[in-house]
Amino acid sequence: MPFGRLRGFQDITGLSAARFTAIEAAAREVFGLFGFEEIRIPLLEEKALFTRALGEETDVVQKEMYEFEDRSKTRVALRPEGTAGVVRAYLENSFDKNQGLSKFYYMGPMFRSERPQAGRLRQFHQIGAEALGTDSPYADVETIQCLVLFLKRAGISGYEVKLNNLGTFEERAGFREALRAYFKPHLGKLCGDCRNRFEKNVIRLLDCKNETCRELARKAPLLASHLTEESERHFNEVCEALKVAGIKYRLDPTMVRGLDYYTKTVFEVSHPKLGAQDALGAGGRYDRLVESFGGPNVGAVGFAVGVERLAMCVTEEAAAEEKFLEDAYFIVTLGERAFKEGFKILSELRNHGVKVSMDFSGKSLKSQMRGADKSKSRYVLILGDNELENGTCTVKDMRDGTQQLRLLDGYLASLVAQQRNKTC
Ligand code: HAM
Repeated sequence: MPFGRLRGFQDITGLSAARFTAIEAAAREVFGLFGFEEIRIPLLEEKALFTRALGEETDVVQKEMYEFEDRSKTRVALRPEGTAGVVRAYLENSFDKNQGLSKFYYMGPMFRSERPQAGRLRQFHQIGAEALGTDSPYADVETIQCLVLFLKRAGISGYEVKLNNLGTFEERAGFREALRAYFKPHLGKLCGDCRNRFEKNVIRLLDCKNETCRELARKAPLLASHLTEESERHFNEVCEALKVAGIKYRLDPTMVRGLDYYTKTVFEVSHPKLGAQDALGAGGRYDRLVESFGGPNVGAVGFAVGVERLAMCVTEEAAAEEKFLEDAYFIVTLGERAFKEGFKILSELRNHGVKVSMDFSGKSLKSQMRGADKSKSRYVLILGDNELENGTCTVKDMRDGTQQLRLLDGYLASLVAQQRNKTC
C-alpha cells in the first residue's frame, strides 16, 4: 500500500464509529432539551478570524494551525475550534439583530497540529454549544448543566467539574503585572517555553506541566485579589445556582485556559481515565468576543468536548449496551425453502422499517450465526423447513443466549407493531 494515514489522523470504524454515533445522538437529544439549535459552520475560515478570537500569542495560533494561502491569495486555516466560527456566523447571519438570545450546537472535526499522543490528535472531533446574547450568570449554569446531563446521557461518570473566575480583560491586565513582578527573579529557573510565555502571555505560565515551573506557580499571586466586585458577584451567583441545580464542582483558582477570549466563568471537566490529557471538555464565558468582531456588546458562554476523549471514558455498562443493537434482527435459515421464506420476511420487515439483515451465502448454521454476531443484532430468527411446516420460528436473544419457539405470523406482527409504536 503506497499510502498511510497522516500522523495524528484516524479512521473511525466499527465499534468506535457506533460509539461516536451514540455520543452524537445523546448530544442532539440533550441540547434539543435545552433549546440549542444545530449550526453547521465551515471547516475552513480566514486565518485572521482565529488569530483575533483565540489570541495572537496562544499556542493554537502560534504553533498549531493548519494554515495556507488559497488560490485567491487569502490566508486561510482549518478550524482549530468552533467558537470563533459560530460568532462569525451569528453576526454574518444577523442573529444579533433578529433574535435576542441565540443558542447553537455543533459537532465535527477540528484540526490542531499538536504532537500526537494518547487522547491528543491532529484531527479530532468536538461537540460544542454556545449561547450568545446573554450576560446572566444563570446562562453559565445552564450551559454547565447541559454539559453534565449530556455526559450522563452519553454513559460517562467519574468526571470532575473544575471552576474558576478569570475576571475581565482589564482585571487580568493588573494580574499580569503582578505575575511578571513575581516570576521575574525566577526567570533563570523557568523552562524555555515559560521564559517565552513570561514575555508574551505570562498567565499561561500557571498552566505549565514542568515540575519546577509548577512549583513556582503554586506560590504565585492569585487572580482573585485583582477582581472587581462585579466580577465576584457574577461568579458567586454562578456558584450558588450550581448548588441549587445539584451540580458538584471544585473551585480551582489556578486554572487558566489556553484560549484568550475567556472572561469571568471558566470550567473544565476532567476524567482520571484520560491520563496526561485529562480534559474531557472545557468552556466558559467570552463577553468581549462578539464586540471584537464588530458586533454589539453582548455576553456569551459555551463549551466544547472532545469526542475521542469521551469515547475513551464511556463506562463499562454503557459499552456493554453498545455490543448489541437493541432493535436489530438477523434471519438465519436452514434449507432452501426456509431461505426463500427468510428472504420474503426480510423484505417485508424492511418495508415496515424494522432493522433486519440476513446472510445470503447459503453457508452452515454456524457460519450464519457468526454473521449474526458480527451484525450485533440483539435477536436472531432461526427458520428451518420443520419450523415452517409448523408455522413457527426460533428466536434467540444474543445478549443472554436464551431461545424461544414462537408462532411465526404472530411474532412478525409484533415486530411490525413495535416499530409502528416507535415511529408514532
Ligand atoms: P479547548 O479546551 O481548546 O476549548 O477544547 C475543548 C476540548 O476539545 C478539550 O477539552 C479536549 O477534550 C478536546 N481537544 C482539544 N484539543 C484536542 C486534541 N488535539 N486532540 C483531541 N481532543 C482535543 C475549545 O476549543 C473552546 N472552543 C471551547 C469553548 C466553547 N469555549 C467556549 N465555547
